[in-house]
Amino acid sequence: MKEKKEDNLMEKIVSLCKRRGFIFSGSEIYGGLGGTYDYGHFGLALKNNLKLYWWKKFVDNRRDMYGIDAAILMRQEVWQNAGHVANFVDPMVECEKCKEKFRTDQLENKNKCSVCGGNLIEAKKFNMMFETRVGASDDSSAISYLRPETAQGMFVNFKNTVDAFHPKLPFGMAQIGKAFRNEITPRDFIFRVREFEQMEIEYFVRAETWEKYFEYWKDEMLSWMEEVGIDMSKVHELEVEDVDRAHYSKRTVDFEFDYPFGRKELFGLAYRTDFDLKNHKLNYIDEENTDLPVGKAEKMIPHVIEPTFGVDRAVLALLLSSYCEEEKGEEIRSYLKFKPNIAPVICAVSPLLKNKIELIEYANIKVFAPLKAEFGRVMWDDNGNIGKRYRRQDEIGTPFCIVVDFETLENDTVTVRDRDTGEQERVKVEDLKKYIQEKIS
Ligand code: GAP
Repeated sequence: MKEKKEDNLMEKIVSLCKRRGFIFSGSEIYGGLGGTYDYGHFGLALKNNLKLYWWKKFVDNRRDMYGIDAAILMRQEVWQNAGHVANFVDPMVECEKCKEKFRTDQLENKNKCSVCGGNLIEAKKFNMMFETRVGASDDSSAISYLRPETAQGMFVNFKNTVDAFHPKLPFGMAQIGKAFRNEITPRDFIFRVREFEQMEIEYFVRAETWEKYFEYWKDEMLSWMEEVGIDMSKVHELEVEDVDRAHYSKRTVDFEFDYPFGRKELFGLAYRTDFDLKNHKLNYIDEENTDLPVGKAEKMIPHVIEPTFGVDRAVLALLLSSYCEEEKGEEIRSYLKFKPNIAPVICAVSPLLKNKIELIEYANIKVFAPLKAEFGRVMWDDNGNIGKRYRRQDEIGTPFCIVVDFETLENDTVTVRDRDTGEQERVKVEDLKKYIQEKIS
């Protein structure tokens, strides 16, 4: 019987992530730092695979996309002109009695404090940007911010990109990188954190075509989610109302996900108009406009469609989508049903017994080494008995476990166990690379 247990699902995921080396609380040995998490070996591999797949689909496989890796620290004028100094604020209330602060939009009871029952009063507006100083000077010109979105790193490099590559409209810029927000109430594991990663695209179009490209990017975002293995029955589109939209957006669609703690934002798609380029005083010479006389190029400001993906929310949605439990007699077998191209480990190689030198040598030299050289994400596992190894690899989400046994020494075949069915088949050692390659693709 295969089913997904919704009860305590978050607790199970958080516990699995720590136990199996995916995600740990930040600064844990000092009691933790709210809203920060550290990714361990397997969590990092999962995150890297998601980012790599995103980059492949949206940059490498296209002709109209230009990558950038901008500095996190930028001059304060960037954030002033982008409107973040004035507008990147959360509505906040404060308890009169215990002084605890809350985000108004996240409160069920907007009058009473959930900590001590005191009265909640309006607090001063809270800017979520982390302020810092650049250099030794202590005057206000030294103020800078840790970027709260990667987007501005692309807008400020718009001219550089146009001058270097001469792209024709429509074209896009893409960036993957850290963003920081001093969230008032970080919560729900890696869902709302203070330091996270974004994968963002700024797609520059002619104003009159924005609706067409908005729909186009909606479909592209949905297809990426499906391709990496997010459970699409849990993804819903939400047309964000005027009052809830960011200061730069004229239309926003949020892709929400059914998390165990409620239906909440996963990714977003915004029509940023010409807001950012205009505020940074940037423009584009449109030599393709055929309505103008020959030799007369048009100076214009492109409009922007922005598909934005939070990496950490992608990891969480994928963990929740992939977690499965299966009753096996008295025991419950739990496994992460990752697609092979996204799984942190593609296959694990084990000698049946860890004290038989001939099995170890064969497994190491003839199986593990060539597969490791070919696929990289291959794990040597000789810890505990075979049952324990299978359980461990199931929890990591390893699609294939390869075991070298005594029959291998006789006929050069190994057993390959499928994570999802638990079924085993014998495969010739010389066919292993091809076998795995086919499963990945
Ligand atoms: N450049 C547009 C922008 O930053 P956003 O909706 O504020 O838009 C984009 O953020 C994405 O970043 C969200 O859809 C979400 O996936 C992720 N994100 C935002 N705040 C987050 C937080 N505090 N913790 C984790 N991920 C977050």
